[in-house]
Amino acid sequence: MGNKNITIGLFGFGCVGQGLYDVLNHSQGLKATIEKICVKDKNKKRKIDATFFTYDREEILKRDNLNVIVELIDNADEAFSIVKDAMNNGVSVVTANKKMLAENFKELYELQEKNNVALIYEGSAGGSIPIIRNLEEYYDNELLSSVKGILNGTCNYILTRMELENKDYGDVLKDAQLNGFAESDPWLDVAGFDTKFKTLLLTVHAFGIVLTPDDIFNTGIQNVSYDDILYAKQRGLRIKMLGVSQKVGDKFRAYSIPHFVDRESELFNVLYEYNAVEVEGAFSCKQTFVGKGAGSHPTGSAVLSDISALTYDYKYAYKKLKKALSGNNKIEDGIKQIEYDFPIKLYIRFQNREELKDLEILSIEEEYKSTNTNYIIANVNFNSLFNIFNKRENKLFICAI
Ligand SMILES: NC(=O)c1ccc[n+]([C@@H]2O[C@H](COP(=O)([O-])OP(=O)(O)OC[C@H]3O[C@@H](n4cnc5c(N)ncnc54)[C@H](OP(=O)(O)O)[C@@H]3O)[C@@H](O)[C@H]2O)c1
Repeated sequence: MGNKNITIGLFGFGCVGQGLYDVLNHSQGLKATIEKICVKDKNKKRKIDATFFTYDREEILKRDNLNVIVELIDNADEAFSIVKDAMNNGVSVVTANKKMLAENFKELYELQEKNNVALIYEGSAGGSIPIIRNLEEYYDNELLSSVKGILNGTCNYILTRMELENKDYGDVLKDAQLNGFAESDPWLDVAGFDTKFKTLLLTVHAFGIVLTPDDIFNTGIQNVSYDDILYAKQRGLRIKMLGVSQKVGDKFRAYSIPHFVDRESELFNVLYEYNAVEVEGAFSCKQTFVGKGAGSHPTGSAVLSDISALTYDYKYAYKKLKKALSGNNKIEDGIKQIEYDFPIKLYIRFQNREELKDLEILSIEEEYKSTNTNYIIANVNFNSLFNIFNKRENKLFICAI
């Protein structure tokens, strides 16, 4: 494309799509114009001229004057179909859709290779935090040992308000929904799925390992209670929902679990809807990136940065992944590098012991029972966590120590 005018076909004009529109209108120096916008609801009032809009995806996909498709819709399956068609037409794509990327990563990677087009997605993990390109480019030769972070603004917002306002989960969630900080169905956010999709993407760019969402264990704050917040508070700790991807020996671990963090951690003071990513390398040591993890303009600015990168023909080089794929290795072999059989120390709050029966508890360090609350501090075989989670009916709250 080579630093020239670019013409954009945009899918979606919701929170992020409108954010991109505003940010683009205020940008200086970037020669990019939105030519057409495809949306869904014909009856919705739009804040810009009606001639911008179409309801027919083909009207964008079949145009031959577009340099880039920007996909910002809220449906992962439809997004995948749009992105696939665009790439097969030889057009580069910018997206922020972590669910779509995580669920289809292998195929999307192969489509980039086959069609020699770019698919870039800085806004998909950490919102405005420039983490993906940094992992890919800046840390391309660094021996990284860990990437972990607060990757979901909704969880962090709820946990912060519960602690600072001494409130229950249900009350804060309701308020967060009213104020636009949580979806009407918050399950993907609060149960740790969103954090895990982002962890999957960070794992690709940090370590060159491609996983599927089912390979990464997740649980979230869906069952957190004020008792748990109080437990942390009394010990000078805070609960943070973390995505973790780390190298331990010659194996890797990846999961999405609430953690207690102490004051020494840079993550301790990351509050409300802010996100943070902590990158640890053998020589660079620990570095923390903090910023708004979601929202119209912050995410729009990450999308704009991707569009700008396309003006100089930027593509992810996938250096670490390509290295891992040398020889006869296949993408699906990445899972062989992941370790599941290890002890993890957890705070587990439960109602009755029956709920713990499928967990392989290796040792119990502390046990507390009262009329309101029962918890144990225990070392558990990580693998056995898969037996009990991802189900809405489960009422356990666990937090890594
Ligand atoms: N919100 C954030 O802060 C944030 C942050 C990071 C990443 N993201 C990601 O960015 C993407 C967009 O999120 P959002 O919050 O902007 O969503 P949103 O506010 O719900 O807006 C979704 C937009 O997609 C349009 N749409 C839905 N299905 C469509 C289809 N089949 N064809 C064309 N348009 C369609 C909707 O059309 P109508 O206007 O006609 O309803 C709407 O304009 C998602 O993948 C999300 O995960 C969001």
